[in-house]
Amino acid sequence: MLEILSPVRLLGLPGSLRQASFSRATLIGLRDSLPEKVTLEIHEPQLPLYNEDDDRSNGPEQVLKFRDAIKNSDGVVIVTPEYNHGVPGVLKNALDWASRPFGRSVLAKKPTLAISVSSAFTGGVRAHAQLNETLLAIPALVAGGPQIVIGNIGEKIADGVLVDQPSLHFALAALRQMISMCRLSSSRLMA
Ligand SMILES: Cc1cc2nc3c(=O)[nH]c(=O)nc-3n(C[C@H](O)[C@H](O)[C@H](O)COP(=O)(O)O)c2cc1C
Repeated sequence: MLEILSPVRLLGLPGSLRQASFSRATLIGLRDSLPEKVTLEIHEPQLPLYNEDDDRSNGPEQVLKFRDAIKNSDGVVIVTPEYNHGVPGVLKNALDWASRPFGRSVLAKKPTLAISVSSAFTGGVRAHAQLNETLLAIPALVAGGPQIVIGNIGEKIADGVLVDQPSLHFALAALRQMISMCRLSSSRLMA
């Protein structure tokens, strides 16, 4: 029997604002290798610092747009560097905004895949573990399996795109599983 696959819209979130960011380059490499019917839109985490006083229905415009982008996606792919053995503040800040309103987060039950990259051979594994903790607290639907960590990232990027085939192969295997999770959870939502 011919299986008709539904389209999947992914939101890519880099954990860095740097212009030549390897995290963004990794998302671009993945975006260039996606299976048919799957798209990925990259959203910059350029948001004001979280302040509960500003967290209202008419709060900061960038925050409302960010929450809408997550809401309108079928799943989120986060690629983060490691800063001082942890998640960069810019990404934690974005996730804090996404986590609210309490009990009604747009990330709640949203299939989410965490990937870390680093210029060190450790691949940002400590940031990866912290990121999963935060996602579980929200609680996003965290894609499990092998931790996708990519070390020596600077050597694997060409012209602003991840081109290293073993790294792409490793990350795409997890991404395919996560895409299946997205299809399963949207079919459940429609049922
Ligand atoms: C403030 C700062 C702290 C860093 N701390 C770590 C670290 O703890 N572990 C690590 O593997 N790399 C660390 N790095 C190196 C980053 O992994 C590397 O700069 C990475 O490319 C940054 O991500 P980006 O290219 O997406 O901007 C640090 C870099 C900065 C700027």
